[in-house]
Amino acid sequence: MNGQVSREAPAKLNLTLAVLGRRTDGFHDLHSVMVPLALADTVTLAVAAGIGKDTLRVMGVAGALRVTPDNLVLQAIAATRRAVRTTWPGAPESPPLLTARLTKRIPVAAGLGGGSSDAAAALDAALDAWGATLPRDVARSVAASIGSDVPFFLAGGAALVTGRGEHVEPLPPFRGVAPAVLLVTPQLQVPTRAVFAAYAAGARSPGGSARVLSERLTAGIRNGMTAEALAERAADLVTANDLLPAALVVVPRLGEFRQALSGLLGLPVGQSGSGPTAWVLCPSLSAARKAAALVRQSAASALPQLGDGPPFVAATSIVSGAQ
Ligand code: C5P
Repeated sequence: MNGQVSREAPAKLNLTLAVLGRRTDGFHDLHSVMVPLALADTVTLAVAAGIGKDTLRVMGVAGALRVTPDNLVLQAIAATRRAVRTTWPGAPESPPLLTARLTKRIPVAAGLGGGSSDAAAALDAALDAWGATLPRDVARSVAASIGSDVPFFLAGGAALVTGRGEHVEPLPPFRGVAPAVLLVTPQLQVPTRAVFAAYAAGARSPGGSARVLSERLTAGIRNGMTAEALAERAADLVTANDLLPAALVVVPRLGEFRQALSGLLGLPVGQSGSGPTAWVLCPSLSAARKAAALVRQSAASALPQLGDGPPFVAATSIVSGAQ
């Protein structure tokens, strides 16, 4: 067993998000190009003595994140313990309790997958802390049982994600310099469930162009794509999210927010997942940092006030794997 283990838990961006249809289990089948970002939380686990419960302490930006038993880090530890109970080196004893520390840098319920990433990191770190292993397919199904985005984070790297999120096909890294991204997140939490419910109730645009654009982007990345070539597609990609109309039902002013941001920067603005995070592809990390400074300076006058206080603004980059 290892005393203390840490994992970085990156945010994700949906460069495309096509919703293909509702399934009999109530989830929706997707076709989404997802990429991990340099912006990340940190999950640290340590083996605890005694009996009782796993514990979690949260630090960082997540002022609004209350620690409840349904926190995805605690759920991931519990699900992983169940999966390895009879096979870990200390069996037939149950794997020991863990104390978890989570440093949040990713805004919560923002369309950036922070909670799911924390869960994937906790799953991997718990195995390490207990000296346990799981066959890859079992680890994947434990991940899928925690949440739709968790298998993507467990796999790591850019991927085409299909099914409800359980099918993760790795995509090659971007060539050359990593693409830079500006994130702007209004300070309000948007539950994914509410956005999919609005979609299921009919808030969708006709056409199916998100799927076509998603397939085209997948093919482009498979053929080897640079950050520059990705940025050239930005005007199309910002339309390639089938959850845009549904997110507007949940937060009507989000469209106005994205439009104002696009006007301020003179660049296309997309939405990650079910929102509310807006993303902007930038030619370089320094350009993203400049744009971030401009947004921080001008948010109060140039952007509609959404939620409590100024938006979260971050310049980051896509981490798509080894170059
Ligand atoms: O799996 P996760 O807990 O992240 O999903 C939250 C909710 O979003 C689900 O309960 C479901 O209502 C909706 N969802 C969906 N189809 C997906 C992913 C999520 O309908 N592929």
